[in-house]
Amino acid sequence: MIIKSLTETIGNTPLLHLGESSTGANTYLKLEMFNPTGSMKDRMAYNMIETLQSDMSGFDGPPKIVESSSGNTASALSMLCAARGWEFTAIMDGHASKDKVRAVRALGGKVEFVGDGTGSLSTADRDALAREIAESSEDTFWTAQHDNPANGAGYAGLCDELVCDLGDDIYAFVAAIGTGGSLCGTAEALKEINPSTIVIGVEPEGSVIFGGPAHEYHQSGTGTPQGADVGLVINYDVIDEGRKVSDRDAFTTCHFLARKFGLLVGGSTGGAVFEAMRIADTAPAQANIVTLACDNGSKYLDTIFSNEWLSRKGLCLGDVSKVS
Ligand SMILES: Cc1ncc(COP(=O)(O)O)c(C=O)c1O
Repeated sequence: MIIKSLTETIGNTPLLHLGESSTGANTYLKLEMFNPTGSMKDRMAYNMIETLQSDMSGFDGPPKIVESSSGNTASALSMLCAARGWEFTAIMDGHASKDKVRAVRALGGKVEFVGDGTGSLSTADRDALAREIAESSEDTFWTAQHDNPANGAGYAGLCDELVCDLGDDIYAFVAAIGTGGSLCGTAEALKEINPSTIVIGVEPEGSVIFGGPAHEYHQSGTGTPQGADVGLVINYDVIDEGRKVSDRDAFTTCHFLARKFGLLVGGSTGGAVFEAMRIADTAPAQANIVTLACDNGSKYLDTIFSNEWLSRKGLCLGDVSKVS
């Protein structure tokens, strides 16, 4: 397949059948790590940049882009800005995955860190710095992923792909929630086709999207820590249920997927798969449950796949030969 732009490889990701539950329900995992920078965020970053570009009439470019990110949105924006010759600055946590930071820099992006690097999430500080940079320069645009409608709208194609592969009878859609773009954007489109699809958002224990108590968590990219605003992209009207998953269950599921399927995923995916399989255990026969692999686990080899890191964080995995 000859392509003219890497953006042609965004989307059309494969759907892995994870198995059939004891009740006869089927769980499927959409492998979003097959997008060019290894995460689902390529979809929304592309839509945010295209939307921004079409709204920029009268601006004598090239623009500079700034965004606050745990790393996946930053990698996606770095790829898109590199291809346009635009400058990109990522605002990242001091403890962000080293591989995500390296990817942004390799793609020509600049990185500014906030936080002390000890592990506490600095989402509010990141957003404040991104806003400050954008407001101090007329040619700099903050894509503001938490509040940008182009984030959620970037996932319309994901819904089309699911319906193409499974038909419109999707019993439940289960996904991690951070900005809410992937969960709510896909869910809004799915519910238009079949309003009875059950939509379940999964956040880490300690995140505040579905209420407290708040505490530290280590599932990267997902959830909202205390002190950060829950963004406008989250549409609670399309979410039927919010669930919380512990780091231990999320990471044990990552190791389970690695051993059982040879598949490396990140912690947010581990959490979503953990909950999807619990739902499958009580779902009717032939029900289709779909969840998303947000990103590639090779971004976490020095964290959730490192025994040394797990023990430093006091995290003890469960039985990695099974889930729940
Ligand atoms: C690894 C990972 N999982 C989950 C999420 C949450 O996705 P969303 O922002 O679409 O809610 C993100 C967002 O950055 C992420 O990077």
